[in-house]
Amino acid sequence: MSEAQTEKRKRILSGIQPTGTPTLGNYVGAVRNWALLQKDYDCLYMIADLHALTVRQVPADLRRRTRELAALLLATGIDPVKNVLFVQSHVPAHCELSWILACNTQFGELSRMTQFKDKSAKHPDNVNGGLFTYPVLMAADILIYNADLVPVGQDQTQHLELARNIAGRFNGVYGDTFTLPEGYVPAAGAKLMSLAEPTKKMSKSDTNLNSFVLMTDDKDTIVRKFKRAVTDSDGQVRFDRENKPGVSNLMTIYSVFTGKTMEEIEAEFAGRGYGDFKLAVAEATADALVPVQTEYDRILADKDYVDSVLRDGAERASRLANRTVSKVYRKVGLLQLDRH
Ligand code: TRP
Repeated sequence: MSEAQTEKRKRILSGIQPTGTPTLGNYVGAVRNWALLQKDYDCLYMIADLHALTVRQVPADLRRRTRELAALLLATGIDPVKNVLFVQSHVPAHCELSWILACNTQFGELSRMTQFKDKSAKHPDNVNGGLFTYPVLMAADILIYNADLVPVGQDQTQHLELARNIAGRFNGVYGDTFTLPEGYVPAAGAKLMSLAEPTKKMSKSDTNLNSFVLMTDDKDTIVRKFKRAVTDSDGQVRFDRENKPGVSNLMTIYSVFTGKTMEEIEAEFAGRGYGDFKLAVAEATADALVPVQTEYDRILADKDYVDSVLRDGAERASRLANRTVSKVYRKVGLLQLDRH
């Protein structure tokens, strides 16, 4: 592809925190789409380790999980040459920009973030400054690359909106500097619900371990978890999110992995019990995850390879990010010395 053509491709940035093994919900709703986007976009994929520190982490676990997550992302088919795969803390420019953006963000704006309110209610013993300024760092992650599109889940749309507002305001004061990012909802995306309480989102922080499937769960575990999934008593495989949230969630999962429509699924299981249906969902899920898990084990066994990908990613990301920071520092009036 020629230089001109490459330049026209829109740029995508997304991030995921290394706070535990991603669930099936993370896979279907986000990670699985990342590998699909590389065909049409210039993608930067970031492991948001600095964001993870807003909640207390066990240092050794955080370090291990960061590398594991990199291996897992590679295993899903993200090409580290076509895309930039990197760890947030390996690109110090994010923190540099974050400070400048913080000075252009109002206390009131940050106070209105619903995630901040939720998280501070959940961890009243650790309402730290980082939790409060988390959306500013996220804005820096996005704006530093002039990302056009940001695939985010529902829980992050308010943060993305804030990033747009910060960018717009900065541009207004200092002249055109940042691209205003837009949210990107992948065509094939779907939000998965908890297997135990299907009106709640599937979450890895759920205390009920049967409420989620992990990307690394083996087939027996997957079958066991789906067998226990909450359904309803009417015994019909029919899509109705409101009245049959459990069955509808399982149908969504089955549809994602088999490509079948809801009508086809209803026909396939007409007159059959939930037992058959749950087993079919479990098998379709395991069939989809096993190849990723095999790749994951293979890649993770080669630590040097994973680290070399991250080193390369950090260098390429830094080159782009440093350019933005330099420009921003100049615009806001920080003295820059000539390089000799
Ligand atoms: N805050 C996001 C989450 O918890 C992760 C994240 C950090 C992110 N920086 C980002 C996502 C930039 C998109 C863009 O899910």
